[in-house]
Amino acid sequence: MTRTILTGDRPTGPLHLGHLVGSLRNRVALQHEYETFVLIADLQALTDHADDPGLIRESVIELVLDYLAVGIDPTAAAIVVQSQVPELSELTVYFLNLVTVARLQRNPTVKDEMRQKGFEADVPAGFFVYPVSQAADITAFGAHLVPVGADQLPMLEQTVEIVRRFNRLYGPVLVEPEALVPDVGRLPGTDGAAKMGKSLGNAIFLSDPPDVVARKVMSMFTDPGHLRASDPGRVEGNVVFTYLDAFDPDKTAVAILKEQYQAGGLGDVALKRRLMGVLESELTPIRTRRREAAKDPTHIREVLKEGTARGQARTAVTLGRVREAMGLYR
Ligand code: TRP
Repeated sequence: MTRTILTGDRPTGPLHLGHLVGSLRNRVALQHEYETFVLIADLQALTDHADDPGLIRESVIELVLDYLAVGIDPTAAAIVVQSQVPELSELTVYFLNLVTVARLQRNPTVKDEMRQKGFEADVPAGFFVYPVSQAADITAFGAHLVPVGADQLPMLEQTVEIVRRFNRLYGPVLVEPEALVPDVGRLPGTDGAAKMGKSLGNAIFLSDPPDVVARKVMSMFTDPGHLRASDPGRVEGNVVFTYLDAFDPDKTAVAILKEQYQAGGLGDVALKRRLMGVLESELTPIRTRRREAAKDPTHIREVLKEGTARGQARTAVTLGRVREAMGLYR
């Protein structure tokens, strides 16, 4: 039996290098091996952008372009629009009874995001419970594997708890999913912050043109103590080296550069120029494919329509089993 992958993104802006390292590479690598569904989570985007549905609608198209640009093959992977699949909302409602407010308050990713967005006590209820809706996404598709960045691990943990609770109460219907996180670790922002984020102003987007990438690389956080090229510099916490580790195919060359930098004699500008070259080889084919895909809006609409239909068919089967297991009146 083929196993299933489900993963997704909120359509609130373009994807960046953190997404590429965190999840997109794994999706592309596995899309022919697993039955793959990629969810455009517009309902989840609404939980913190209720005042801007226009941004979400436009970002749906941008997201599809990013997917096609990095090599997601829509004939293999179904690209699904969350709000067009009511089964996901229905399952969320059932799941909300299987989780406590106290448990939701302990979710570290939600806690971080609430602090970042300054929600405090004014957090929208929908935002607070989005891990439950994400659990519904994952289980409605019967996903075995969920390729995500490490920040999503708490969501997977919560999903497994909900699945176990459901299966214990109503019968063994739902699949326990597993997370697939990349072994390179999380890509920091250009400013050295632990996480690259659209809203943090420290992201390099897949759709950034070369001059923008160059400017962002030039302003990258390195070692504040490394003032002259001849000074010894620090490699740990130096964002340029973290990015070289993630993207430079020549690992030996990077190891030599690290030694030179630590000994003194290698300037930040020379190092940053190397990174620009490395990022350009990564991003040039992505930009080309994105430009090609953008020429055919009808195709984009077809991809979404067809992918969503495939997704809806799959979740309808799960929801049939869920209702039957719960023994709801019909
Ligand atoms: N929370 C994810 C993010 O912010 C997006 C997402 C929604 C998702 N539903 C999902 C990821 C299901 C994996 C599985 O990037």
